[in-house]
Amino acid sequence: MTHRPFLDPFKGIVAKRPPWWMLRQAGRYLPEYWEVRNRSKGFLDLCFSPELAAEVTLQPVRRFGMDAAIVFSDILVIPHALGQKVSFVQGEGPKLEPIDVDRLEARGAGERLAPVYETIRRVRLGLPNETALIGFAGSPWTVATYMVEGGSSRDHAKIRHLALSDPLSFARLIDRVVTASIDYLRRQADSGVDALQLFESWAGVLPEPMFRQWIIEPTKRIVEAIRATHASVPIIGFPRAAGAMMAAYAEETGVDAINLDQMVPLGWARTAMPTKVLQGNLDPAVLVVGGQMLDDEVNRICDAMADRPFVFNLGHGIVPETPPAHVARVAELLKARG
Ligand code: CP3
Repeated sequence: MTHRPFLDPFKGIVAKRPPWWMLRQAGRYLPEYWEVRNRSKGFLDLCFSPELAAEVTLQPVRRFGMDAAIVFSDILVIPHALGQKVSFVQGEGPKLEPIDVDRLEARGAGERLAPVYETIRRVRLGLPNETALIGFAGSPWTVATYMVEGGSSRDHAKIRHLALSDPLSFARLIDRVVTASIDYLRRQADSGVDALQLFESWAGVLPEPMFRQWIIEPTKRIVEAIRATHASVPIIGFPRAAGAMMAAYAEETGVDAINLDQMVPLGWARTAMPTKVLQGNLDPAVLVVGGQMLDDEVNRICDAMADRPFVFNLGHGIVPETPPAHVARVAELLKARG
């Protein structure tokens, strides 16, 4: 069997230098991404064109040599597969048509995402043997925020109001997303990914009772279902900005690893989540600025995690204005550690 360093931390192995990859490592900060993106009709077309999506997935690994690639897709392919119309307007982000919970069609949603599985098979053939491949989905709460709000939202007022005022119909929506996501993640695992990540980008907006009901419970259902059929595939949870709820999320959902956002103090994370693989924490703004500050931050984070299973990564996605040279600098700094 080929050795994939990315998987070491999940086996309890602490290497001299941590394996690394970067959230949103494929994308708009790379000129070669634009070259491919401009050849497709729109962003979703790119996600559903296996040849182009595979190329874009491989680009950052070719340039920087990360230990893992993440399949090029989006968390909003789930609403699309459930029958809700999704479009991406340049400069405005995603737009979703008004939701009708009764008309969502959970069955067969996973099947409709067949191009993503084809992308996974193509990426696996194009990746170096020692590079891992990560599959992903949005977590149900975060996906539902886009479905209910109709796009990105500053205060998530609509969805919080719906969840509080009509919990029964909101539970039906979450159930449909859970069912479709389980199917989608299993099919990604069957197609050849080494690990799965669940993006809960909007974990930071709920009070405790709602956090337990709409974030921990649905995530736990997904983790248990994947474990029942694909026990050897590690699952990374990313409850971004969950603050004081993060440790309960880690323990109660049963994920193997936690992606730390940049607001989490590392000393706290070590004590609060001693049995979890930890990943992340570098501030994407530091990656934009670069210089001595970037060197210092990379080394500070690696030093703080040097004696425990850790995957080097960002605390949130790379932003488009990031100079590619700064990502190359991170690769160099990590190499210098061993
Ligand atoms: O390298 C990778 O990580 C590529 C795969 C990937 C994308 N989106 C590609 C993408 C992943 C893992 C995501 C996750 C995602 N998508 C999240 C969770 C992580 C996070 O950032 O919080 C969320 C909330 C989304 C939803 C989404 N997709 C939004 C809100 C937007 C518009 C804002 C933006 O950043 O443009 C997208 C578009 C998107 N997803 C792009 C890419 C490369 C840009 C599309 C383009 O080329 O125009």
